[in-house]
Amino acid sequence: MASKTDISDLDVEALSEDQAKAALAKLAVELSAANAAYHTDDAPEISDAEYDRLKRLNSAVEERFLHLKRPDSASDQVGAAVASGFGKLTHSVAMLSLANAFTDEDVQEFDISIRKYLGFGADMPLAYTAEPKIDGLSLSLRYENGVLIQAATRGDGSVGENVTANARTIADIPHQLEGAPDVLEVRGEVYMSHADFTALNTQQEARGGKTFANPRNAAAGSLRQLDAEITRARPLRFFAYAWGSISAPLGQTQWEAIARLKALGFETNPLTKRCTGPSEMIAHYTDIEAQRAALGYDIDGVVYKVDDLALQGRLGFRSTTPRWAIAHKFPAELAWTTLEGIDIQVGRTGALSPVARLTPVTVGGVVVSNATLHNEDYIKGFDSKGQVIRGGKDIRVGDLVQVYRAGDVIPKVADVDTDKRSAQATPFEFPRTCPQCGSDAVREEGDAVRRCTGGLICPAQAVEKLKHFVARGAFDIDGMGAKQVEQFHTDGWITEPADIFTLQERYGSGLQQLKNREGWGDKSASALFAAIEDKRKIPLARLLFGLGIRHVGEAASNMVALHYGSWDALEQAMDAARDRTGAAWDDLLAIDGMGAVMAGSLVGAFAQEAERASITRLVAQLDVADAVRADTTGSPVAGKTVVFTGTLEKMTRVEAKARAERLGAKVAGSVSAKTDILVAGPGAGSKAKKAAELGIETLDEDGWLALIEGL
Ligand code: IVH
Repeated sequence: MASKTDISDLDVEALSEDQAKAALAKLAVELSAANAAYHTDDAPEISDAEYDRLKRLNSAVEERFLHLKRPDSASDQVGAAVASGFGKLTHSVAMLSLANAFTDEDVQEFDISIRKYLGFGADMPLAYTAEPKIDGLSLSLRYENGVLIQAATRGDGSVGENVTANARTIADIPHQLEGAPDVLEVRGEVYMSHADFTALNTQQEARGGKTFANPRNAAAGSLRQLDAEITRARPLRFFAYAWGSISAPLGQTQWEAIARLKALGFETNPLTKRCTGPSEMIAHYTDIEAQRAALGYDIDGVVYKVDDLALQGRLGFRSTTPRWAIAHKFPAELAWTTLEGIDIQVGRTGALSPVARLTPVTVGGVVVSNATLHNEDYIKGFDSKGQVIRGGKDIRVGDLVQVYRAGDVIPKVADVDTDKRSAQATPFEFPRTCPQCGSDAVREEGDAVRRCTGGLICPAQAVEKLKHFVARGAFDIDGMGAKQVEQFHTDGWITEPADIFTLQERYGSGLQQLKNREGWGDKSASALFAAIEDKRKIPLARLLFGLGIRHVGEAASNMVALHYGSWDALEQAMDAARDRTGAAWDDLLAIDGMGAVMAGSLVGAFAQEAERASITRLVAQLDVADAVRADTTGSPVAGKTVVFTGTLEKMTRVEAKARAERLGAKVAGSVSAKTDILVAGPGAGSKAKKAAELGIETLDEDGWLALIEGL
């Protein structure tokens, strides 16, 4: 089905800010109409693929124009928004999504990161289950004392639709269970088989009704019928693969739990397999992929889950995905096209990024006209570790290249056809000077990226820094986006962040100056000045992040802000640490997660004269709010500084740190007078000695666990 809009061939990279704003508005209308149609009609107006495409497009535009993101953005919803016709049900345990793996290496990485988190050596056995990822819609079924009392769709992940009456009409869903735990929420996928889908469409056509684009659409449309009798007439099926609240465990492993669900009367997928590690998982993936067409229902990948449920518990969740599972997706669509040119973009930290300009080509339903080429090594045929990629083939202008979109929105170049290469084609010469300011572009040892050395004199860096400054996560100034920054910068109205806060003073008299500019009216000008005023008072972490110091991202900024508390303390500490030795430097390095590179970059920014002067001018305009910790009332370790040393036997360092921080503790890497608790496992050496000398409370691992038990 074609999109109703003219955004079908939108080139995100080429959008102006106004176009982006218009596109986002249009996408919001399209997506919410699609959501509504999905829910009220049994025939959505656009296909699921089209819906996904619009959603991805929406994210891509938002990614380029962070500040234009709408409060009702579809990107903030895990699934479709809850429809109004059904009652709402809050999930007692959130229904999450899964992180994706696209390559065999991603699967190896998944195993490695889990081992790392758990502290498992490469030789320790670690089993996983591997099962098809069903392309339907997820459903949570709540049984109390063996009776089905509630069924809810995923909705936005925390609140779903109450589709109990509809779920009761599905033959695969038992109404009563024998011998189940008192409370049992069974989760799984509602889907429709290919044969049933075809028959349904034929029937719909014969009746003059609407047909469905694909089985998933048909399943979703059929389940979300306000009249459950319509659902009953639709051949829906259900595979159980997970659970929410339970009053008693279903087993000790995923494998046992699935077997238990089967014994209780649920359909479970027969292709579920227990694997000893990545090679078996990948072999099973290949096996499932080979059977894909013959299965009779749609699947879009294979889901791997850590088998041991106790380990799943330890691994826990990130914000929207479990750490213990991953979806290995089937390959993305590929397309061949011509590389017309390579442009070099200059980023905020001076990084020179090559961008492929392509003859437009459709990949997975989207027209792609540019793709990232990462860095100069990538063009030459090497990855960031210096390993050969694409068999060492380099990429040249004029080449036929293979483009793909794998899950994420930014297209990439996968391969190049050197057989079709013209004899005249020459290797791409990566510039040695900045294309924007002409300064030397150098590549430092260990850096995959060549960078412009122009600093603040490079207009591209200055503009990118300003864009970063006004973006989300940083100052997040409404009405001040990439376009305005570019406009103001070109005209010399702003050259550095401080200028934003004197804009009104300098140009706002009677608003005439600003109002006279193209694209500005009375309302937008006053709104901009109000938005700027609104950010004069700014939390320390946002200020720090807004400075755009290399290596200092949002998480690091939070960490540093919490450590120093106030701007004055931070500034003094940076000055004291300037020569990179002594107590202030050690204190900076002691912030857990702080490495010498990040610390050096941070201290360097304060030590560099021009940059520091620019920071000082900015701070003079601001009222910087001290950093405050999240409310962790009731936690015995809130606000305390904890150091872990020696071998931990029940958890890894990463895990221990994550947990301590969740409880409001500050985790440091070395013992100092500021340390409150030292948790020392076997083999603790100098840190334990130092703690003893300083009279710091020292606990062993069990003592620590007892202290935080139940929290
Ligand atoms: S496990 C905590 N297993 O994929 C995560 N999900 O992208 C629990 N899905 O929302 C999900 N087949 O709708 C799991 N075998 C399977 C699945 C599966 C399909 C869906 C499910 C989930 C989505 C995540």
